[in-house]
Amino acid sequence: MTDFQRQYRKYYDHFERALKNFCAGMNHLPPVLTESMRYSLLSGGKRMRPVLFFGALTHFGADFVPETGLAIALECIHTYSLIHDDLPAMDNDDFRRGNPSNHKVFGEANAILAGDALLSEAMGLMLRESGRSEKHLKAAQYLADAAGADGMIAGQSADLLYSGKTGGAEELDFIYAHKTGKLIAAPVVMAALLGGGDAAGAERFGQALGALFQITDDILDEKGESVKMGKTLGKDAAEDKLTCVKVYGMERAELLADQTAANCLALLNALGGDGFLASIVELVRNRDN
Ligand code: IPE
Ligand code: IPE
Ligand code: MG
Ligand code: MG
Ligand code: MG
Repeated sequence: MTDFQRQYRKYYDHFERALKNFCAGMNHLPPVLTESMRYSLLSGGKRMRPVLFFGALTHFGADFVPETGLAIALECIHTYSLIHDDLPAMDNDDFRRGNPSNHKVFGEANAILAGDALLSEAMGLMLRESGRSEKHLKAAQYLADAAGADGMIAGQSADLLYSGKTGGAEELDFIYAHKTGKLIAAPVVMAALLGGGDAAGAERFGQALGALFQITDDILDEKGESVKMGKTLGKDAAEDKLTCVKVYGMERAELLADQTAANCLALLNALGGDGFLASIVELVRNRDN
């Protein structure tokens, strides 16, 4: 194991333990509600956003363990976005995280409610954390905005709007910056706010990393292995989604990924560099899941 893998594992294991405890403490009635929420939260997932949050907190000189509540809120929001993204009315995907999608197991209506509940639970967690200090209030506010109508939802709305339509770099950038960029920038910016670091620089780096994450997601939808990705691939072309592969072609999309990874590293350098975060950039560029 490399130092990076060891560190990733440490953050990942800490988060998994906390999330399992959080899920064990859920006792919502009727039981199907708890089961559907637990199903998606615990059915795998790379936990990239919580790990990024913990790595960024460490970079900005803050302890990561006390911020576990915000990490769980972040993952609840991300997981809810996936449940709703897979619904027949959106991407109509039958597999997620290597398992049948939430609506394939619990039905569409329950999947909608599981997503609603995860978002509401996240807001509750964030409100509780925001009482700890002014910095926590700012971090929680940032996450709420990143999730909302100027955030991830705006990107999902644009993703639907441009399905089956022509669009260019400008439309693609809007989709990337919102549907993926907001929830990947959020952990980096929250960490900067909590650690007293450069929040504007953190946002620039987080947004670039979010773009890289979606560029590689789009590339892997065409070139990846379904078993490794844990979801049905080839769906973007089938649904005529506005992706980097559609706009630029595969060869230029790969080049764009390389350029965006280089941009991430330059922006990270401006933040004082960091071995762990630089390795995250490499991981996202070279991922196969
Ligand atoms: C999938 O996110 C949705 C996108 C933004 C492309 P992840 O690839 O992080 O999904 P999990 O959490 O590992 O399942
Ligand atoms: C989803 O983007 C981004 C979200 C906000 C959930 P995609 O639709 O490309 O994600 P996958 O490919 O289904 O994971
Ligand atoms: Mg989608
Ligand atoms: Mg999708
Ligand atoms: Mg995709």
